[in-house]
Amino acid sequence: MNSLRPTIGVFDSGFGGLTVLRELLSLAPSARYVYLGDTARLPYGSKSRETIARYALSSAQFLREQGADLLVVACNTATALALEEIQAAMPIPVVGVIGPGARAAAATPSHPEVLVLATAATTQSGAYTRALNALGIKATEKACPLLVPLVEEGWLDQPLYKSVTLDVLRIYLIEALAQAPTADTLLLGCTHYPLLKPLIETTLQTLRHPMKVIDSANATAQAVAALLPAATAAGEPPVCEFYATDSVEKFQRLGSVFLGQQLNEVKLLDLGG
Ligand code: DGL
Repeated sequence: MNSLRPTIGVFDSGFGGLTVLRELLSLAPSARYVYLGDTARLPYGSKSRETIARYALSSAQFLREQGADLLVVACNTATALALEEIQAAMPIPVVGVIGPGARAAAATPSHPEVLVLATAATTQSGAYTRALNALGIKATEKACPLLVPLVEEGWLDQPLYKSVTLDVLRIYLIEALAQAPTADTLLLGCTHYPLLKPLIETTLQTLRHPMKVIDSANATAQAVAALLPAATAAGEPPVCEFYATDSVEKFQRLGSVFLGQQLNEVKLLDLGG
């Protein structure tokens, strides 16, 4: 690994992984980041394990070719379905989001009971339940397939659109809490859900079921920063390169919401089918 400015490859099925990059930029600013959003093949969350693994491996391979010293699978679905395959195929450290997210949930002061919201593919894999059970934590997973499209459409702020998203969240949370009535910790097991955090907290209030809401973005960035040379914690400003496999214009527009800052240049990439 380049000890002065290591290259960190970060990939997701789309924009959501930028929430992880955002945390990385504050914890380890002095690195080179190459981010790939596989927007042409999004969503991964409704696809089969074989397809997700094939997509994820091609993204990992591309980032390795760009000089990545370390790889971050900033997609819950790809982590749930393909982390071990990617780790076996790559000669560099590969960090996913599920282990750090589960550890962050387990680290809450009381012995928590965790409800995980995620895509259908992630919940079907049971990866979060296995990770949390291994830490002695009781877990229930709930698939929320409508949430990614609502976030992608930006139905978060304006009252008319926001009301639809709040209705959908209310239904999912009522169903989820019927399965796990004593859950006290809500783990956002999808890259898009941190953007819904204020609406989720509002919904929990109206349901009179307060919960600690945790996402894996910060925990993953901390796990990655712990593997990096100390010099990356300060010094030179970050260097970031962005690739998307579909509409560069949409990636710039939506990506800046996820990253919390303007994306200057995004390159279009063809990874095949
Ligand atoms: N990035 C995916 C995840 O975190 C959500 C979007 C998708 O389904 O591809 O699970």
